[in-house]
Amino acid sequence: MTATGSARVPKLKTGQVDVWHADLKALPAGEGPRALLGAEERARAEAFRFDRDRAAFVARRAWYRTMLGAYLECSPRDLEFTTWGNGKPRLAESGLHFNTSHSHGRALLAVTRDCEVGVDVEWCGRDLDIMPLVGRFFAPAEVAVFDGLAEAERRALFFRAWTCKEAYIKALAMGLSLPTQSFEVPLTGPGGPILTPEGQTDWQVRLLDLGPDYAGALALPLDDLGVNRRRWQ
Ligand SMILES: CC(C)(COP(=O)(O)OP(=O)(O)OC[C@H]1O[C@@H](n2cnc3c(N)ncnc32)[C@H](O)[C@@H]1OP(=O)(O)O)[C@@H](O)C(=O)NCCC(=O)NCCS
Repeated sequence: MTATGSARVPKLKTGQVDVWHADLKALPAGEGPRALLGAEERARAEAFRFDRDRAAFVARRAWYRTMLGAYLECSPRDLEFTTWGNGKPRLAESGLHFNTSHSHGRALLAVTRDCEVGVDVEWCGRDLDIMPLVGRFFAPAEVAVFDGLAEAERRALFFRAWTCKEAYIKALAMGLSLPTQSFEVPLTGPGGPILTPEGQTDWQVRLLDLGPDYAGALALPLDDLGVNRRRWQ
């Protein structure tokens, strides 16, 4: 990716999801990326109190635009985002579905031609009192699993499970309007279906290996889509 917004991406076939993982420090910063943003993004950038946060937002948004522009073979500046559901961005009539997430210097971008997807990344270094959060945001069967664990195991499982929950509510575009205790995510293995009291849903989550200190998940329909994990350099 250059500061003026060009990048090469592999050909994205149907039946595939590309999940890009970037270190925000490695992204171009400054006026070049800023010039790629739309009016609404620039207004959001201006609203940040700290320069550091503003620069990270600009770099991240310019990266999303550059990557999506590369998939669509158009200028990143020409992309026009709208939102649906509870604020999920989309590129209407582009034939491309995507979702983004960021946490503590990392950004994720999932892109596919097939269906809605959701992604989430969380930095696991946050000092959280885990069990009150589990009691509030997790389903009874999930709470029972946490009850049987030692504190260190609870922390690791919490971030894993939370990213799965967020990825799912983001895939559906519902955000936190969907109560996270109304469904169960897989608590072992590399992923699995989302369950509700009515039974298995049409959705699954897959864990993303984002290195130490980060948890990540991708939510996608149960159909057999191939997932290409890509590190942006
Ligand atoms: C979607 C949501 C859960 C993400 O929260 P988060 O973990 O803080 O942030 P992430 O970095 O993982 O994701 C942010 C990205 O998700 C996308 N996004 C925003 N709303 C979304 C939605 N409803 N569904 C899917 N994706 C959404 C945007 O691309 C956003 O990127 P941006 O920060 O550059 O604008 C949260 O913003 C949310 O719930 N928003 C909807 C509002 C809502 O439901 N309010 C509660 C009503 S009860």
